[in-house]
Amino acid sequence: MSTRAVIEGIGHSVPDRVLTNDDLMKMVDTTDEWIVQRTGIRERRISSPEETTSVLSIRAAKKAMAMADADPGEIELVICGTVTGDMPFPSTSCLIQEGIGAKGAGAFDVGAACAGFIYALSVAGAMIEGGQAKTILVVGADTLTKFVDWTDRSTCVLFGDGAAAVVVRARQNTDRGLVKTVLLADGEGAKHIDLQVGGSLHPVSDPASASCRSTIYMAGAEVYRFAVNAMGDACCRALELAGMDSTDVDLFVPHQANLRIIESAKARLGLPDEKVFINVERFGNTSGASIPIGLSEAVAQGRLKPGMLVMTVGFGAGLVWGANLIRW
Ligand code: ACO
Repeated sequence: MSTRAVIEGIGHSVPDRVLTNDDLMKMVDTTDEWIVQRTGIRERRISSPEETTSVLSIRAAKKAMAMADADPGEIELVICGTVTGDMPFPSTSCLIQEGIGAKGAGAFDVGAACAGFIYALSVAGAMIEGGQAKTILVVGADTLTKFVDWTDRSTCVLFGDGAAAVVVRARQNTDRGLVKTVLLADGEGAKHIDLQVGGSLHPVSDPASASCRSTIYMAGAEVYRFAVNAMGDACCRALELAGMDSTDVDLFVPHQANLRIIESAKARLGLPDEKVFINVERFGNTSGASIPIGLSEAVAQGRLKPGMLVMTVGFGAGLVWGANLIRW
């Protein structure tokens, strides 16, 4: 009997502070109408200085563990998909491990930007199916607003902060669990979204780094064109690998970067409105947290129930993209 990687608990956490489009109009030359028409975003959550990626992650992890009735000692591994860790090192996963009291668990981060949760869940699934762990905590979390240039209207309107976590357990005799995963990357597109300062190329301590970008750069139009194709391609490939088609999907939870990108993926896959989960209007692009926050809200709203087939898809800096098909 094969072992399946089943999500048995989920939770999310976002900062209390809301930044509306009207607030942004007082900061940069923009309008609510432009932001809503081009992105679908109406407001986003902004973390306080104390609300680091690990702080939001620990709050989310505790909710997921409560739903799964998971004792901290049961967690064997913590995997966090993030590109905005508290520090370059130690890993944010180690801070989460300590924060939830999972003594003895292994911990590492996965750096795949807005596809971070897709990648991290895929690793967890493979480890569980391979018998290397029985219970894994997977987190998707980012605080991109801490790295935004608040004078750049083309990027500062897009991002928000948040975290979400799932408890994944090994189960036998079930068709629930991770069904198929597609992970893809194209480093040629690395130049389209980056944060230059803070790594080994441009260390903060190097005076020469002063002339480099210390905030997020994004070539929006290039990323948009890439995303429209990548979302559909990854979903079609995951469905093909599973021997399924889009009519088998009960709920589609795409990365929430831009409503127009979601609408184009929905059209390509031929999915009706009621099968597409959208919350971009309230949170903006929360990067690695975007997909699991969507899953968490879908569960809380009763739109995602055990046994349903959910398809998730994400894309982001790297460039990276990928999809997970999950029998919830
Ligand atoms: N308010 C008003 N006008 C604006 C704003 C704004 N906030 N931002 C840009 N504009 C202007 C531009 O200056 C430009 O004016 P111009 O024609 O006079 O030069 C005009 O609006 C059109 O700009 P575009 O960039 O062509 O607008 P577009 O329709 O492409 O929308 C957007 C821009 C929303 C950024 C879009 O390209 C997009 O969503 N791209 C994908 C972003 C994404 O999904 N990133 C995910 C990865 S993030 C990660 O991995 C960390």
